[in-house]
Amino acid sequence: MSEIAFIEKFLRNNQDYTLAKYAARQELTITSKSDANDLLTEVDLTLQKRAVEEIQQAYPGDAIVAEEGEFSKYPENPGDRCWIMDPIDGTNNFVRGLFPIFGISIAFAKQGSAVAGGVLLPATGDLFLAERGKGATHNGKRARVSAIQAVAKGRLDIDFSTTRDRREMVQRAAGIMYKMGQIRCHGSAVASICQIASGDIDAYLHMSLSPWDYAASQLIVEEAGGMATRLDGAPLPLFDGGKGVLISNGAIHEELLGLLM
Ligand code: 2AM
Ligand code: CA
Repeated sequence: MSEIAFIEKFLRNNQDYTLAKYAARQELTITSKSDANDLLTEVDLTLQKRAVEEIQQAYPGDAIVAEEGEFSKYPENPGDRCWIMDPIDGTNNFVRGLFPIFGISIAFAKQGSAVAGGVLLPATGDLFLAERGKGATHNGKRARVSAIQAVAKGRLDIDFSTTRDRREMVQRAAGIMYKMGQIRCHGSAVASICQIASGDIDAYLHMSLSPWDYAASQLIVEEAGGMATRLDGAPLPLFDGGKGVLISNGAIHEELLGLLM
């Protein structure tokens, strides 16, 4: 099976389970990780376990990087064949039900470059898929970034993440926040980044992301005509979001970089 077909099948197969757990979220087993707001549920663990087992069976020997447990320790170099997964992106929304905005994200990378990626937003059923060089789709139709040409007319999605990152965000993003047409804050990087691919949002900014937060959605945006860089404007490698990530429709990217402080 091709990697993109594997990704699509996995995402579709796990929608009902994830939604059923969301509907009964008062009964979830929840623990916290690095701080009291960094949550982990049984659903994160189950989805990751299922994906790891299925990848190991279908593609023995491939490297796997994923948010939970031992899989979160990733090497500097992703190697020849590597899967990057976030079982639930937006776990806080999943647990507390701030609108149903959370996603399941899986990417497959060859020689350090994502070549296939998929994101499912289980609650709405929105499915984004992309293969390098072949374009991106949103619910089976070609996905395209917006045609917005100016920051003042654009819509930015921004996440403030942990208290550690917040001071840096307030300092560095002030210029963008003063100028941007509209600002939203949704708490799921993959959901927001995919909304750039569908043309509903024009940019996303985060001070520190892990590979599983953007590997699949970065490819989806790039294949929809957008762009992703580090905050210094350099290309955004697969395992290098820790110093910040700027993703946009491409047309307003230079202007956004220039407004960063
Ligand atoms: P998560 O829900 O999978 O933890 C919100 O700020 C966005 O950033 C979410 O996509 C969230 O992913 C991610 N995120 C939260 N804390 C993070 C951290 N410490 N490092 C990197 N990404 C984080
Ligand atoms: Ca997660």
